[in-house]
Order: sequence, then C-alpha cells, then structure tokens
Amino acid sequence: MKEYPDDVAGIYVLKIGGSVITEKGAERRVRKEEIRRISEEIALTLSTATARAGKKLILVHGAGSFGHPQAKVYLESRDAKDALITHESVKELNKMVISSLTECGVNAMPIHPLSAVVSKGLEIKYKIKEQIDKALKMGIIPVLHGDVIFDEKEGFRIISGDQLVVYIAKEFKAIKVGVGTDMDGVVNDNGAVIRKITPEDLEKMSIGGSAHVDVTGGMKEKVYLLAKLASESNTPSILFNASKESNVYKFLVDETLFGTVISSS
Ligand SMILES: Nc1ncnc2c1ncn2[C@@H]1O[C@H](COP(=O)(O)OP(=O)(O)OP(=O)(O)O)[C@@H](O)[C@H]1O
Ligand SMILES: [Mg+2]
Repeated sequence: MKEYPDDVAGIYVLKIGGSVITEKGAERRVRKEEIRRISEEIALTLSTATARAGKKLILVHGAGSFGHPQAKVYLESRDAKDALITHESVKELNKMVISSLTECGVNAMPIHPLSAVVSKGLEIKYKIKEQIDKALKMGIIPVLHGDVIFDEKEGFRIISGDQLVVYIAKEFKAIKVGVGTDMDGVVNDNGAVIRKITPEDLEKMSIGGSAHVDVTGGMKEKVYLLAKLASESNTPSILFNASKESNVYKFLVDETLFGTVISSS
C-alpha cells in the first residue's frame, strides 16, 4: 500500500449497521431519522478542525432490510434477476445515505462493490482500492455497502459490510475501526456487555447470529471477522451502539466510547 500524502494522519473505518439505519424485522423499511442524525454527527466532527485534523474517514453501511431478505431469495434461487433485485435495493438505501450526508454538508461518494469487486471463492480481487484512494485524496468520504458481487466460479456472491470493513482496514492500515449496531456491544448470556474479546476468548464463546434475517452471519460472524483483523493485522476495533445519540461523534473525535473492544491480547 502506498503512503498517504503528508496531510493524512490516519484512516478511520466506520461501519454503520443495517440494524441501525433500517428496521431489520421488516422488508425495505428505512430509518431516515437515524441516517440524518448520523450524518449530522459526522458533519459535526468534520467542522471541528482540531478533532479531525489529518484524519480520513472511510464509511461502510450494512444492507439491513434492503439487502438481507432479498439476498436470501437470491441464495435460494441463484437467479441473476434476484441478484439484481438485491443490488438495486441496497443501492437505494445507499442513495439515501449519500443524500443525507450531502444535505449535511459532507462530501460523500458511493462506491458500489458490485462494480468494483470480483471474487474467486473466498479470495477477493478488489479494484475498489484505487477508487477509495482517489476519493480520500480529493477530500471525499467514500461510502461502501454490503452488496452482491460477481464471483469467478459461483456467478454471484454476497459480500457483507463487515467483510469490507476488514479488507479496507487491512489495506489502508486503519488506525481506528468501529462497527456500530443496535446493541451496546457483544453481550453475554446475562445480557451484560463484554468489554473486551481476544481471538483466544472467542474459541470459548458462543455468540448468536441475528435476531432477524441476516445472510452474512450476524453478530457471530462479525466478531469472528474482527478477531481475525486483530490477530492478523494487530488492528483493534470497537463494537458500539450507533443507535445511541452521540456515539458516532464520540468514535470519530476519540472521546471515550462504551462498547466491546476486539483486540489481539
Ligand atoms: N451476543 C450478542 N451480542 C450482541 N448482539 C447479538 C448477540 N447475538 C446476536 N446478536 C444480534 O446481532 C444483531 C446485530 O447483528 P446484525 O448482523 O443483525 O446487524 P448489522 O450488522 O447491524 O446489520 P447488517 O448486516 O445489515 O449491517 C443484534 O441486533 C442482535 O440481535
Ligand atoms: Mg450483519
């Protein structure tokens, strides 16, 4: 990975879960006020020059009820028409996110994985890097999302926002990684938030998937992916509640944030 220009102090990767910006229990139901609130929080951090000095943000959002139920249909039918429905639907959600950010004065551009990524089974060839790179250099926040992508063997594959977070964090050597859901973090059987998880801990834990349709493994797969990021790249991450006001702001300006930290030790 090439070095960033002098004015880039570090890359922050933030994912806003589909559980935050959509109603996952319904189909194609958006939470517009949540998208607006989060856009305002992001805008606010950009205006506090000292807080954001030299930091660049890559934003990812989940598909929620604009992608999971549709992807489930595709995975059952393997019909290209259903892959298209999934992509179009999640793109619609992305459009709402981009519009909201723009209305709040944030420079943002969509990057649709379908148009920038090809996978070969689990090995993923990303051309997305150059696009993200260019956006960052132009002072634009690239906004990616869970999507349907072409696969060299299978036809199409579903790529989750969580998978994108891990890839981007590795490629861009992110200095901070945050994943927001509608939960305060990973909770144990008693409902208490587990403050720290290491890859070792994970072997002894059992975490649930999702309360709703989630074709990419829900919380369990999310934690597994972030634990892999921690062990392979020594990059910690925090799982926090992005449905709670100010948490996105706190993450971006480095204020203390309650959640589950996933780290290598
Ligand atoms: N131990 C756990 N701790 C916290 N959440 C859990 C746990 N087990 C299962 N969950 C579920 O995981 C959900 C969050 O994961 P999910 O994949 O559904 O959301 P998301 O990643 O925000 O959505 P998307 O995939 O659309 O971006 C929570 O809403 C909760 O129902
Ligand atoms: Mg999910």
